Amino acid sequence: MIKVSIPQGIEVNALDRELQEAHGRLKNKTGAGKEFTGWVTLPGDYDRDEFERIQNAARKIRGESDVLVVIGIGGSYLGPRAVIELIKSSFYNSLPRNNPEIYYVGNNLSGDYIKNIISIIGDRDFSVNVISKSGTTTEPAVAFRIFRRLLVGKYGADGAAGRIYATTDKARGTLKTLSDAMGYEAFAVPDDIGGRFSALSAVGLLPIATAGIDIQELMGGAAEMMDLCSHSATPENPAFAYAAARSLLYRGGNKIEVLAYWDPDFMFMAEWWKQLYGESEGKGGKGLYPASVSFTADLHSMGQYLQDGERVLIETMLIAGNCSHSGITVNNDPEDSDGLNFLAGKTVDEINTAALQGTFLAHTDGKLPVLTVDAGGKTARDIGRLIYFFEYACGLSGYMLEVNPFDQPGVEAYKKNMFALLGKPGYEAEGGMLRARL
Ligand code: PA5
Repeated sequence: MIKVSIPQGIEVNALDRELQEAHGRLKNKTGAGKEFTGWVTLPGDYDRDEFERIQNAARKIRGESDVLVVIGIGGSYLGPRAVIELIKSSFYNSLPRNNPEIYYVGNNLSGDYIKNIISIIGDRDFSVNVISKSGTTTEPAVAFRIFRRLLVGKYGADGAAGRIYATTDKARGTLKTLSDAMGYEAFAVPDDIGGRFSALSAVGLLPIATAGIDIQELMGGAAEMMDLCSHSATPENPAFAYAAARSLLYRGGNKIEVLAYWDPDFMFMAEWWKQLYGESEGKGGKGLYPASVSFTADLHSMGQYLQDGERVLIETMLIAGNCSHSGITVNNDPEDSDGLNFLAGKTVDEINTAALQGTFLAHTDGKLPVLTVDAGGKTARDIGRLIYFFEYACGLSGYMLEVNPFDQPGVEAYKKNMFALLGKPGYEAEGGMLRARL
């Protein structure tokens, strides 16, 4: 189970009443953005027929493709990548046992990036999972157009249609229309679940299942955490403790939360977490800014600031128990020319643990409030629990901050300017003015 430790002196019980109120609003779906709280009960009430179709589609992709191209951005991208890389490895594509390889496009507008992925695929067989709730987001739509043409060129229109899986709104949008017209197999992003809360819907489940991860276990873990959140709504519950601690620290003047992880496999879990908290809380001039660091690497770049810079940060150490069984050990060297024999016989993971403990103490001494979130392990069940834990804590925390945690009005501003500059119909009027300002 997930364990949260919080800095000494932080009295989470002080927020019990606020936590109860926020919990009531989430559970009863009465708070701001209530129409996007379907994720609260998703691990218990997901569509079982669709779940089976996802498992069948994953089997089909594994059977007929060397590569799966996952097209999506933001909430339609980070969840599956986070889970796959955390459970399987950030070297997933290079490890011999993994098939198909999985590449992610439509999450940027770099032509070189797309060109490189096309050349990595080469003449191998591939399928596409295009994920977009709206069906109109520019980055994935551009990528889908390009990869669709490649598929049609290689397999013909019918063959391509059999290799395209569309995860989108169940009734509306350009992608849904295209998908119906072309006969793609389609999966739904539920109406009441926004992008950053959709990792446990078809958005995450199809790529995750294709990577060979047991999605039944993933959902089982999430369901355990859901039960815990619904039945033990006290500050002893890890989600409630985490939400309360970060709220209290924010109110105490801390403006930035740095998620620190100790294994590069966590990188995309941190990216997913940043979107979850940044997009949910950063509004109305409020919210902890979510940042992340990869330790020990960043102790050699950001360590100075964390130890000694302006005291506006909190640090959350994200770990997963003692889950490494690599057995990689420092060997004895009879010459000891590098002076490392004091480590001989120790595993690299033991050294990592000592670095973590040393950092925890040093940062605490440096008056940096340090929290720990321990997922307990890296199995599909552990990670299902972890995802739901972060989501529920985010909902609680957003309500305690008195924002709507489920909208994202601020993300439209850059798009309007970009469309005007590119001459999209309806946006031309402002384009000239913008060009003049650049
Ligand atoms: O959380 C969000 O709402 C966003 O990150 C979206 O998921 C992202 O912009 C992609 O949107 P769509 O799935 O409509 O393409």
